[in-house]
Amino acid sequence: MTSPDRFLLAAVMGWPIFQSRSPIVHNFRFAEHGLAGSYVPLAMPPERLEAALRALPTLNFSGCNLTIPLKQDAMRIVDEVDITAKKIGAISCVVVRKDGSLWGSNNDWYGFNHNILEFVPEWRADAGPIVLVGAGGAARAILYGLMERGAREIRLCNRTQARAQTLAQEFAGPINVVPWEQRHDALDGAAMLVNATSQGMIGQPPLDLRLDKLPKSALVNDIIYIPRETPLIIAAREHGNRTITGLGMLLHQGIPAWKAWFGIEPKVTAELRAKIEATL
Ligand SMILES: NC(=O)c1ccc[n+]([C@@H]2O[C@H](COP(=O)([O-])OP(=O)(O)OC[C@H]3O[C@@H](n4cnc5c(N)ncnc54)[C@H](OP(=O)(O)O)[C@@H]3O)[C@@H](O)[C@H]2O)c1
Repeated sequence: MTSPDRFLLAAVMGWPIFQSRSPIVHNFRFAEHGLAGSYVPLAMPPERLEAALRALPTLNFSGCNLTIPLKQDAMRIVDEVDITAKKIGAISCVVVRKDGSLWGSNNDWYGFNHNILEFVPEWRADAGPIVLVGAGGAARAILYGLMERGAREIRLCNRTQARAQTLAQEFAGPINVVPWEQRHDALDGAAMLVNATSQGMIGQPPLDLRLDKLPKSALVNDIIYIPRETPLIIAAREHGNRTITGLGMLLHQGIPAWKAWFGIEPKVTAELRAKIEATL
């Protein structure tokens, strides 16, 4: 535990950053644990990222989270990248070590897995085919998370097929790349569907995906959390599927970050969830 005279500091850097709910999450946690501290949003253009990260130790920050578009850039800046972040190819969390050096990790996969497990504790990634739509930064972390849970068949489908092919090669797992035009048919026999594209997010059109071939037994997760329920989540529920929204991915990925920054393991409570949902 930190000494009472120390004011705890962490941040989230992104460009833009106004949409981030992370400050509400982490400042709620300081209050919940009775700790003096602050978590600040920092709008950071990529060209200033290096100077900003290097300033963290001087400013007494324990670390920061990174969001779009900084997760890849940070890989070449920090002093050490942990093995999981290397495999995923992106850093979501930076930790300032005692000697002032910077350590980068990726907690997005943890957030993804634990969000699913919170709602479906008996979830098994090897229960049947999983359709993952999207091949951006988040999809990378999700692929890692699914493979970590023993997924046996992942149907990866992305508008730009070459990106999905690159991921399939890099991850060298049970990944079958499905052409974008075949995405509707790819749902046939699936045990799970995950949307990791930006489609359905506020300001974006819904994901163009017909659910008629999706078994009603399939679990549907959209990692988007603004809006609280995307058109995909609403359509899947109406189709009869069990659904999980994206907010929990954000809430759970903060747990390993807090452990690394402050030596504390926070919980994802109903109160925290309600507090954030009220802002969505
Ligand atoms: N809940 C959480 O904690 C959490 C964490 C991370 C991300 N997210 C959300 O996940 C989403 C993806 O994030 P990211 O970091 O992976 O972004 P990204 O790297 O920019 O990837 C965007 C993905 O969306 C696809 N896409 C964009 N426009 C499309 C369109 N018109 N039709 C079909 N596909 C389209 C892209 O396909 P192309 O390759 O063809 O461009 C790509 O697969 C964002 O909405 C983000 O907010 C949530």
